[in-house]
Amino acid sequence: MLIKRKRGWEIKESEITPERYFLDRRSAIFGLAGAAAVAATGGIGRTALAQAKNAPQTSGLVAPELYPAKRNEAYQAGRDLTEEKVATSYNNFYEFGTNKYIADSAQKLTIKPWRIQIDGMVEKPIEIEAEELIRKMPVEERIYRFRCVEAWAMTVPWSGFQLSELVKFAKPAGDPKYLRMQTFVRSDEARGQRQDWYPWPYTEGLSMAEAMNELAFMVTGAYGKPLPKQMGAPIRLATPWKYGFKSVKSIVRFSFTNERPRTFWEGLAPDEYGFWANVNPAVAHPRWSQATEEIIGTGKRIPSVIYNGYGEQVAALYKDIEGGSGRKLFM
Ligand code: MTE
Repeated sequence: MLIKRKRGWEIKESEITPERYFLDRRSAIFGLAGAAAVAATGGIGRTALAQAKNAPQTSGLVAPELYPAKRNEAYQAGRDLTEEKVATSYNNFYEFGTNKYIADSAQKLTIKPWRIQIDGMVEKPIEIEAEELIRKMPVEERIYRFRCVEAWAMTVPWSGFQLSELVKFAKPAGDPKYLRMQTFVRSDEARGQRQDWYPWPYTEGLSMAEAMNELAFMVTGAYGKPLPKQMGAPIRLATPWKYGFKSVKSIVRFSFTNERPRTFWEGLAPDEYGFWANVNPAVAHPRWSQATEEIIGTGKRIPSVIYNGYGEQVAALYKDIEGGSGRKLFM
Protein backbone atom coordinates (compact mmCIF):
# COMPACT_ATOMS: atom_id res chain seq x y z
CA MET A 1 0.00 0.00 0.00
CA LEU A 2 1.29 3.43 -0.89
CA ILE A 3 1.23 5.71 2.13
CA LYS A 4 1.47 9.40 1.25
CA ARG A 5 3.44 11.05 4.01
CA LYS A 6 3.78 14.82 4.02
CA ARG A 7 7.47 15.74 3.79
CA GLY A 8 8.89 18.79 5.54
CA TRP A 9 8.88 20.95 2.44
CA GLU A 10 5.26 20.30 1.48
CA ILE A 11 3.74 23.45 2.90
CA LYS A 12 0.07 24.17 3.45
CA GLU A 13 -2.17 24.75 0.43
CA SER A 14 -3.10 28.15 1.89
CA GLU A 15 0.50 29.32 1.56
CA ILE A 16 0.68 28.57 -2.15
CA THR A 17 0.28 31.62 -4.38
CA PRO A 18 -3.26 31.58 -5.80
CA GLU A 19 -3.11 31.47 -9.58
CA ARG A 20 -5.49 34.42 -9.89
CA TYR A 21 -3.10 36.59 -7.90
CA PHE A 22 -0.24 35.47 -10.05
CA LEU A 23 -2.08 36.08 -13.33
CA ASP A 24 -3.16 39.54 -12.21
CA ARG A 25 0.47 40.39 -11.56
CA ARG A 26 1.49 39.07 -14.92
CA SER A 27 -1.13 40.95 -16.87
CA ALA A 28 -0.10 44.14 -15.07
CA ILE A 29 3.45 43.53 -16.21
CA PHE A 30 2.76 42.58 -19.78
CA GLY A 31 0.00 45.15 -20.05
CA LEU A 32 0.01 48.25 -22.21
CA ALA A 33 1.97 50.32 -19.76
CA GLY A 34 4.95 47.95 -20.20
CA ALA A 35 8.19 48.85 -18.53
CA ALA A 36 6.74 51.84 -16.75
CA ALA A 37 4.26 49.58 -14.99
CA VAL A 38 7.10 47.31 -13.96
CA ALA A 39 9.06 50.16 -12.49
CA ALA A 40 5.97 51.37 -10.64
CA THR A 41 5.13 47.99 -9.10
CA GLY A 42 8.68 47.30 -7.92
CA GLY A 43 9.68 43.97 -6.39
CA ILE A 44 11.91 41.12 -7.40
CA GLY A 45 11.69 39.39 -10.72
CA ARG A 46 9.11 41.60 -12.33
CA THR A 47 11.64 43.46 -14.41
CA ALA A 48 12.78 40.00 -15.39
CA LEU A 49 9.27 39.20 -16.58
CA ALA A 50 9.21 42.31 -18.70
CA GLN A 51 12.57 41.44 -20.23
CA ALA A 52 11.66 37.81 -20.71
CA LYS A 53 10.07 38.47 -24.10
CA ASN A 54 13.64 38.83 -25.36
CA ALA A 55 15.01 35.85 -23.44
CA PRO A 56 17.37 33.77 -25.59
CA GLN A 57 16.18 30.43 -26.94
CA THR A 58 17.79 27.22 -25.71
CA SER A 59 19.30 25.83 -28.90
CA GLY A 60 22.75 24.26 -29.32
CA LEU A 61 22.76 22.89 -25.79
CA VAL A 62 24.19 19.68 -24.40
CA ALA A 63 22.54 16.20 -24.80
CA PRO A 64 19.11 17.53 -25.85
CA GLU A 65 17.71 14.04 -26.42
CA LEU A 66 17.65 13.43 -22.63
CA TYR A 67 14.85 15.97 -22.02
CA PRO A 68 12.23 16.07 -20.79
CA ALA A 69 13.50 13.50 -18.29
CA LYS A 70 11.12 11.37 -16.25
CA ARG A 71 10.03 13.17 -13.09
CA ASN A 72 10.96 11.58 -9.77
CA GLU A 73 7.72 12.20 -7.86
CA ALA A 74 9.49 11.79 -4.51
CA TYR A 75 10.79 15.36 -4.89
CA GLN A 76 7.94 17.87 -4.79
CA ALA A 77 8.35 21.39 -3.50
CA GLY A 78 4.84 22.10 -2.18
CA ARG A 79 4.91 25.42 -4.04
CA ASP A 80 3.86 26.57 -7.49
CA LEU A 81 6.59 26.33 -10.11
CA THR A 82 8.24 29.61 -10.94
CA GLU A 83 7.44 30.57 -14.48
CA GLU A 84 10.25 29.50 -16.80
CA LYS A 85 10.71 32.93 -18.29
CA VAL A 86 11.13 34.45 -14.82
CA ALA A 87 13.65 31.86 -13.60
CA THR A 88 15.67 32.09 -16.80
CA SER A 89 15.75 35.89 -16.90
CA TYR A 90 16.66 36.77 -13.32
CA ASN A 91 20.04 35.22 -12.61
CA ASN A 92 23.19 35.55 -10.57
CA PHE A 93 26.24 34.71 -12.68
CA TYR A 94 29.02 37.16 -11.81
CA GLU A 95 31.20 35.92 -14.65
CA PHE A 96 28.77 37.77 -16.94
CA GLY A 97 28.01 40.79 -14.79
CA THR A 98 26.90 41.82 -11.34
CA ASN A 99 23.26 42.52 -12.14
CA LYS A 100 20.51 39.95 -12.61
CA TYR A 101 20.03 40.45 -16.35
CA ILE A 102 22.96 38.51 -17.77
CA ALA A 103 20.97 36.01 -19.87
CA ASP A 104 22.02 37.63 -23.16
CA SER A 105 25.72 37.98 -22.35
CA ALA A 106 25.85 34.40 -21.03
CA GLN A 107 25.06 33.16 -24.55
CA LYS A 108 28.71 33.91 -25.41
CA LEU A 109 29.79 30.92 -23.36
CA THR A 110 30.98 28.02 -25.54
CA ILE A 111 29.64 24.82 -23.99
CA LYS A 112 30.55 22.36 -26.76
CA PRO A 113 33.17 21.09 -26.24
CA TRP A 114 33.18 21.17 -22.43
CA ARG A 115 35.94 19.25 -20.71
CA ILE A 116 35.45 18.19 -17.10
CA GLN A 117 38.33 17.22 -14.85
CA ILE A 118 37.89 14.95 -11.85
CA ASP A 119 41.00 14.84 -9.69
CA GLY A 120 42.55 14.95 -6.21
CA MET A 121 41.94 11.95 -3.95
CA VAL A 122 40.62 9.58 -6.61
CA GLU A 123 41.86 6.20 -7.81
CA LYS A 124 42.77 7.78 -11.15
CA PRO A 125 42.18 11.34 -12.42
CA ILE A 126 39.53 11.51 -15.15
CA GLU A 127 39.04 14.00 -17.95
CA ILE A 128 35.73 13.62 -19.75
CA GLU A 129 33.48 15.53 -22.13
CA ALA A 130 30.38 16.84 -20.32
CA GLU A 131 28.05 15.30 -22.88
CA GLU A 132 29.63 11.87 -22.39
CA LEU A 133 29.47 12.15 -18.60
CA ILE A 134 25.83 13.26 -18.59
CA ARG A 135 24.83 10.44 -20.94
CA LYS A 136 26.32 7.90 -18.51
CA MET A 137 24.18 9.19 -15.63
CA PRO A 138 20.58 8.35 -14.59
CA VAL A 139 19.03 11.69 -15.57
CA GLU A 140 15.67 12.47 -13.94
CA GLU A 141 13.57 15.51 -13.07
CA ARG A 142 13.08 16.81 -9.53
CA ILE A 143 11.16 19.83 -8.34
CA TYR A 144 13.21 21.76 -5.81
CA ARG A 145 12.85 24.94 -3.85
CA PHE A 146 15.66 27.43 -4.34
CA ARG A 147 16.47 30.16 -1.80
CA CYS A 148 19.02 32.90 -2.49
CA VAL A 149 20.77 34.60 0.43
CA GLU A 150 19.43 37.87 -1.03
CA ALA A 151 16.02 36.72 0.31
CA TRP A 152 14.37 35.74 -2.94
CA ALA A 153 13.14 32.29 -3.82
CA MET A 154 11.88 30.24 -6.72
CA THR A 155 10.71 26.69 -7.44
CA VAL A 156 12.29 24.95 -10.41
CA PRO A 157 11.90 21.61 -12.17
CA TRP A 158 15.58 20.69 -12.51
CA SER A 159 16.81 17.74 -14.53
CA GLY A 160 20.04 15.99 -13.67
CA PHE A 161 21.36 13.24 -11.46
CA GLN A 162 22.22 12.73 -7.83
CA LEU A 163 25.72 13.99 -7.00
CA SER A 164 26.38 10.64 -5.29
CA GLU A 165 26.33 9.06 -8.79
CA LEU A 166 29.18 11.30 -9.88
CA VAL A 167 31.08 10.44 -6.71
CA LYS A 168 30.63 6.75 -7.50
CA PHE A 169 31.90 7.35 -11.05
CA ALA A 170 34.91 9.32 -9.74
CA LYS A 171 36.04 6.49 -7.39
CA PRO A 172 37.41 8.52 -4.46
CA ALA A 173 40.47 7.07 -2.73
CA GLY A 174 41.78 7.52 0.83
CA ASP A 175 38.51 8.78 2.34
CA PRO A 176 38.50 12.50 1.33
CA LYS A 177 36.57 14.91 3.55
CA TYR A 178 35.47 17.44 0.93
CA LEU A 179 34.50 17.87 -2.70
CA ARG A 180 35.60 21.14 -4.35
CA MET A 181 33.80 22.34 -7.50
CA GLN A 182 35.05 25.08 -9.82
CA THR A 183 33.67 27.12 -12.69
CA PHE A 184 35.58 27.89 -15.91
CA VAL A 185 37.97 30.83 -16.31
CA ARG A 186 37.53 32.45 -19.75
CA SER A 187 37.68 36.20 -19.63
CA ASP A 188 37.36 36.35 -23.43
CA GLU A 189 33.82 34.96 -23.19
CA ALA A 190 32.90 36.11 -19.70
CA ARG A 191 33.56 39.82 -19.37
CA GLY A 192 32.95 39.80 -15.64
CA GLN A 193 36.16 37.83 -15.24
CA ARG A 194 38.11 40.86 -16.45
CA GLN A 195 37.34 42.30 -13.03
CA ASP A 196 40.43 40.85 -11.48
CA TRP A 197 39.63 41.78 -7.89
CA TYR A 198 37.24 38.80 -7.76
CA PRO A 199 38.84 35.51 -6.71
CA TRP A 200 38.12 33.59 -9.96
CA PRO A 201 37.39 30.83 -10.60
CA TYR A 202 34.08 30.69 -8.76
CA THR A 203 34.69 27.90 -6.27
CA GLU A 204 32.35 26.07 -3.94
CA GLY A 205 32.50 22.92 -1.92
CA LEU A 206 30.63 20.41 0.15
CA SER A 207 31.66 18.01 2.84
CA MET A 208 31.57 14.45 1.50
CA ALA A 209 28.61 13.76 3.81
CA GLU A 210 26.73 16.66 2.18
CA ALA A 211 27.79 15.53 -1.29
CA MET A 212 26.42 12.04 -0.63
CA ASN A 213 23.08 13.33 0.68
CA GLU A 214 20.16 12.28 -1.53
CA LEU A 215 19.19 15.93 -2.18
CA ALA A 216 22.58 17.04 -3.59
CA PHE A 217 21.87 17.15 -7.31
CA MET A 218 23.94 17.84 -10.41
CA VAL A 219 21.73 19.91 -12.67
CA THR A 220 21.94 19.49 -16.44
CA GLY A 221 18.48 20.67 -17.44
CA ALA A 222 15.54 22.81 -16.38
CA TYR A 223 11.90 23.03 -17.41
CA GLY A 224 12.18 19.84 -19.46
CA LYS A 225 15.05 21.15 -21.62
CA PRO A 226 18.84 21.19 -21.48
CA LEU A 227 20.08 23.76 -18.98
CA PRO A 228 20.28 27.26 -20.49
CA LYS A 229 23.66 28.96 -20.33
CA GLN A 230 22.56 31.68 -17.92
CA MET A 231 21.56 28.97 -15.40
CA GLY A 232 24.98 27.33 -15.53
CA ALA A 233 25.12 25.00 -18.54
CA PRO A 234 26.23 22.38 -19.10
CA ILE A 235 26.36 21.29 -15.44
CA ARG A 236 25.78 23.02 -12.09
CA LEU A 237 24.97 22.07 -8.53
CA ALA A 238 21.64 22.29 -6.66
CA THR A 239 21.58 21.91 -2.88
CA PRO A 240 18.06 23.07 -2.00
CA TRP A 241 18.61 23.28 1.78
CA LYS A 242 21.46 25.76 1.32
CA TYR A 243 21.60 29.34 0.11
CA GLY A 244 21.87 29.64 -3.67
CA PHE A 245 25.48 30.80 -3.74
CA LYS A 246 26.47 27.19 -3.00
CA SER A 247 24.99 26.13 -6.36
CA VAL A 248 28.12 26.65 -8.43
CA LYS A 249 27.43 26.95 -12.16
CA SER A 250 29.18 25.74 -15.33
CA ILE A 251 31.54 23.39 -13.49
CA VAL A 252 34.81 22.30 -15.13
CA ARG A 253 36.54 20.66 -12.21
CA PHE A 254 35.64 18.37 -9.31
CA SER A 255 38.44 17.75 -6.79
CA PHE A 256 38.32 15.39 -3.83
CA THR A 257 40.38 16.73 -0.96
CA ASN A 258 40.98 16.71 2.78
CA GLU A 259 41.31 20.50 2.85
CA ARG A 260 38.16 22.50 3.33
CA PRO A 261 37.70 24.44 0.06
CA ARG A 262 38.01 28.20 0.25
CA THR A 263 34.94 29.43 -1.57
CA PHE A 264 34.50 32.42 -3.88
CA TRP A 265 32.27 34.36 -1.48
CA GLU A 266 34.29 33.40 1.56
CA GLY A 267 37.32 34.84 -0.23
CA LEU A 268 35.47 38.13 -0.74
CA ALA A 269 33.64 38.48 2.56
CA PRO A 270 34.48 35.79 5.12
CA ASP A 271 32.24 37.39 7.75
CA GLU A 272 29.20 37.17 5.51
CA TYR A 273 29.39 33.86 3.66
CA GLY A 274 30.45 30.80 5.60
CA PHE A 275 31.26 27.42 4.18
CA TRP A 276 28.25 25.69 5.76
CA ALA A 277 25.62 28.27 4.76
CA ASN A 278 22.32 26.50 5.33
CA VAL A 279 19.02 28.37 5.01
CA ASN A 280 18.16 29.56 8.51
CA PRO A 281 15.58 32.30 9.17
CA ALA A 282 16.92 32.76 12.72
CA VAL A 283 20.38 33.89 11.63
CA ALA A 284 20.41 37.21 9.81
CA HIS A 285 23.00 37.98 7.18
CA PRO A 286 25.04 40.96 8.44
CA ARG A 287 23.30 43.17 5.88
CA TRP A 288 19.79 41.74 5.70
CA SER A 289 17.29 39.56 7.55
CA GLN A 290 16.67 35.98 6.48
CA ALA A 291 13.27 35.75 8.20
CA THR A 292 11.23 36.00 5.00
CA GLU A 293 11.69 35.56 1.26
CA GLU A 294 10.04 36.94 -1.87
CA ILE A 295 8.88 34.46 -4.48
CA ILE A 296 10.24 35.93 -7.71
CA GLY A 297 7.69 36.92 -10.30
CA THR A 298 4.82 37.10 -7.80
CA GLY A 299 5.57 39.87 -5.33
CA LYS A 300 4.50 37.43 -2.61
CA ARG A 301 6.62 37.31 0.56
CA ILE A 302 6.49 34.24 2.81
CA PRO A 303 8.26 33.19 6.02
CA SER A 304 11.52 31.34 5.47
CA VAL A 305 12.03 27.94 7.06
CA ILE A 306 15.06 26.20 8.51
CA TYR A 307 16.94 24.16 5.89
CA ASN A 308 14.42 25.57 3.39
CA GLY A 309 12.02 22.86 4.57
CA TYR A 310 14.39 19.93 3.94
CA GLY A 311 15.38 19.30 7.58
CA GLU A 312 14.13 15.73 7.52
CA GLN A 313 16.80 14.90 4.94
CA VAL A 314 19.70 17.05 6.12
CA ALA A 315 19.47 18.12 9.77
CA ALA A 316 21.48 15.08 10.91
CA LEU A 317 24.43 16.22 8.79
CA TYR A 318 25.05 19.15 11.11
CA LYS A 319 24.43 17.80 14.60
CA ASP A 320 28.14 17.33 15.40
CA ILE A 321 29.56 20.30 13.56
CA GLU A 322 31.32 23.08 15.46
CA GLY A 323 29.01 25.99 16.16
CA GLY A 324 25.94 23.87 16.91
CA SER A 325 22.99 25.84 15.60
CA GLY A 326 24.95 29.09 15.85
CA ARG A 327 26.12 31.64 13.37
CA LYS A 328 29.25 29.95 12.05
CA LEU A 329 27.32 26.97 10.88
CA PHE A 330 24.76 28.85 8.92
CA MET A 331 26.30 31.96 7.48
N1 MTE B 1 28.02 30.18 -10.02
C1 MTE B 1 28.92 30.92 -10.67
N2 MTE B 1 29.87 30.31 -11.37
N3 MTE B 1 28.91 32.28 -10.63
C2 MTE B 1 27.98 32.96 -9.89
O1 MTE B 1 28.00 34.20 -9.85
N4 MTE B 1 26.06 32.79 -8.37
C3 MTE B 1 25.45 31.97 -7.33
C4 MTE B 1 25.04 30.60 -7.86
N5 MTE B 1 26.10 30.02 -8.66
C5 MTE B 1 27.01 32.20 -9.17
C6 MTE B 1 27.04 30.79 -9.29
C7 MTE B 1 24.30 32.61 -6.73
S1 MTE B 1 24.65 33.91 -5.68
C8 MTE B 1 23.01 32.21 -6.94
S2 MTE B 1 21.72 32.85 -6.07
C9 MTE B 1 22.71 31.18 -7.96
O2 MTE B 1 23.87 30.76 -8.68
C10 MTE B 1 21.69 31.72 -8.95
O3 MTE B 1 21.25 30.69 -9.79
P1 MTE B 1 20.20 31.07 -10.94
O4 MTE B 1 20.77 32.18 -11.75
O5 MTE B 1 19.99 29.82 -11.72
O6 MTE B 1 18.95 31.52 -10.23
